[in-house]
Amino acid sequence: MRDLLTFLGESPSRFHAVENLRQTLEQEGYTRLSECGTWDLAVGGKYYVTRNGSALMAFRIPRKDFTGFMMSASHSDYPAFRVKENAELTGPEKYLRLNTERYGGQLLSTWLDRPLTVAGRVLVEEKGAIATKLVYVDKDLLMIPSVAAHMNREANNGFKFDPKCDMVPLMALDTEKGAFRKLVAEAAGCKAEDILGTDLFLCLRQKPLVWGANGEFVSAAGLDDLQCAYGCFKGFMEAKESSSVPVYVLFDNEEVGSQTKQGAGGTFLADLVDRVCAAMGRDKASAVACSFMVSADNAHAVHPNHPEFADATHRPAMNAGPVIKFGVRYATDGASQAIFTALCKKAGVPVQHFANRSDMAGGGTLGCISLGQLSVNTVDIGLPQLAMHSCFETAGSKDTEYLVKAMAEVYSASFREDHGLFTLA
Ligand code: CO
Repeated sequence: MRDLLTFLGESPSRFHAVENLRQTLEQEGYTRLSECGTWDLAVGGKYYVTRNGSALMAFRIPRKDFTGFMMSASHSDYPAFRVKENAELTGPEKYLRLNTERYGGQLLSTWLDRPLTVAGRVLVEEKGAIATKLVYVDKDLLMIPSVAAHMNREANNGFKFDPKCDMVPLMALDTEKGAFRKLVAEAAGCKAEDILGTDLFLCLRQKPLVWGANGEFVSAAGLDDLQCAYGCFKGFMEAKESSSVPVYVLFDNEEVGSQTKQGAGGTFLADLVDRVCAAMGRDKASAVACSFMVSADNAHAVHPNHPEFADATHRPAMNAGPVIKFGVRYATDGASQAIFTALCKKAGVPVQHFANRSDMAGGGTLGCISLGQLSVNTVDIGLPQLAMHSCFETAGSKDTEYLVKAMAEVYSASFREDHGLFTLA
């Protein structure tokens, strides 16, 4: 299996991330299921299913009368710029720029003056059908140039960026019309005129790296949430068999509210639980009651330059283990905290705690959104990181392995509750 840096480096878009995990599952003998087909599941079987090419779930059937579902969910998307359909902006002068729109709540200034390119997918007419092709334009193609300090005297005084003006990437000088579409078609291995649909995003050319005096840190695009997506996946693959069905879930569209068919607000996971219960003849309500979900999405470490943004008594440190998140916008409660803490203890993994400073709102999580579709005991956790929603984020280089160990323990367990008595096996 790829290591974290390789996985991140080879996942310039959510579609690539899903494809990389899918390939690993294929290599490990998992059977691909189609949502349009019937599911004939067998004891001892290993399966996966994708939705929209940007969300993925994998699971194993331990026995016919399994206890419940032990699950993790993280997200494949991260804040970026989506390339608009009619992408080419000609002028002013001889400049050719790309028309983009914001996807998610990124830190805009971080996108300036960095080599960028385009990644995602195109849908192509092929042999009477519509085929999906992954796209990565493998060159330093774009840059969003800053305005010179001499021309913007306010640049260092809390300048407000206008996405339609300040964040437009430059691609070429004096080029013919259709040049961008041609580049995309070339990268997809198709003809420009055969492209019927596109999902293309700007992405950073900078490769992930480990840095610091002792290699303490890892930096990459999309650590939120591909670091958790990777750690949970590895834990899922390494887990021992239990009497529960381990389910690995990767949702899309968390950064724009999750309300899509491939997002946590959709029915993807609830559909899977329905179908597994139906195929195995297992009563769904009692299986769901014996289920546990780890919603894994990165958390904030104390910032070295702004320690005051952290809560007085909840101060996550880097390389000190996964963080359990508490607050009204998180799914964690005392019971789910206790279950996760007990499993981490068993795995020898330290846990930390996060709560927002009392005058700050913080972000919501897919854990809460998913609960509306499938009501299970859920804990919100994440790995501590800095610069969340920058185009190049920073986390601790040792924390991924802590998450792998913790998730391997979660996925090796099964769980039931009887009137406040929680039994882990
Ligand atoms: Co996130």
